[in-house]
Amino acid sequence: MAERDNAAQTVFDPAAIRAQREREDRLLREKMRAALPEARERLAARGIDPEPVIATDYDGNPMTVANFYMMLRGYAVTEKAGQDPTYRAARCAIRSDLGPEVRDAAFVALNQQSAEEAGHGDKIFGAAYYEMGAIAAETVAEDGFQQGGDFLEPSADAAANTQKVLDMMAVLGGVETLALERAFPLVLHACAEWRHPLARQLIEQVNKIVKPEEARHVLTWRYLFHKGVAPRGEGAIQRYYMLTNWGRDRFLAPRMEWSEFERHMRASCPTVEQLIGRPMPVSI
Ligand SMILES: [Fe+2]
Ligand SMILES: [Fe+2]
Repeated sequence: MAERDNAAQTVFDPAAIRAQREREDRLLREKMRAALPEARERLAARGIDPEPVIATDYDGNPMTVANFYMMLRGYAVTEKAGQDPTYRAARCAIRSDLGPEVRDAAFVALNQQSAEEAGHGDKIFGAAYYEMGAIAAETVAEDGFQQGGDFLEPSADAAANTQKVLDMMAVLGGVETLALERAFPLVLHACAEWRHPLARQLIEQVNKIVKPEEARHVLTWRYLFHKGVAPRGEGAIQRYYMLTNWGRDRFLAPRMEWSEFERHMRASCPTVEQLIGRPMPVSI
């Protein structure tokens, strides 16, 4: 157990993540600033005026169409980065010691989430990014998506696999709630001000596809809390809460207050059908 805790601690160190991301974020901003003139040229070459101010960013700075375009790169690669850990967590779920019904639900929900995150990344934000500048969204080192993969490989230890699924879902829950509270409102707000057919399409895709899917991912976070975490008692609950905030610290976003976490978890446990959006057993 101690070894297991250490492994999780190394990957999800709450004290270290914010400091690390602040460092990386500074470098990322510099890199993006340096890339801005070329980005403006790409937009102009596609007939898009890069200059109009269409929103205000999280720090209160005016956001131009060119800044919005740079932000879409971030959305595309971040969504896409959700594909791999969810796919791995789904495979950990199968080899966990959760009950058979929970194992089935976790596998199907997480596997589906993996496909949906790829869809958000490649099909929606990645496609919009391409449309605007005719290049693909690329992850850069400063995005910080390279670490943590091996931790999620299923092992021969079923209890350890359970802990991996729960830890990962806690982190994802922090990110999913953040996306719904901050990321999508910002992109919708910018699109509402940007007079371009692509903006109208993005609004529709985000409202009709991305938001409902993310809302179901939040339900999976709540489902696994009820089924896997709450029965294990206070220590497990505090760990889930701590790792939910790790997910938010990872994006340098406001932490989730305990009262907010409690409000989410006080609601009754979602049904399996609610979190995958269709009845089990799954018919494809
Ligand atoms: Fe997503
Ligand atoms: Fe999601």
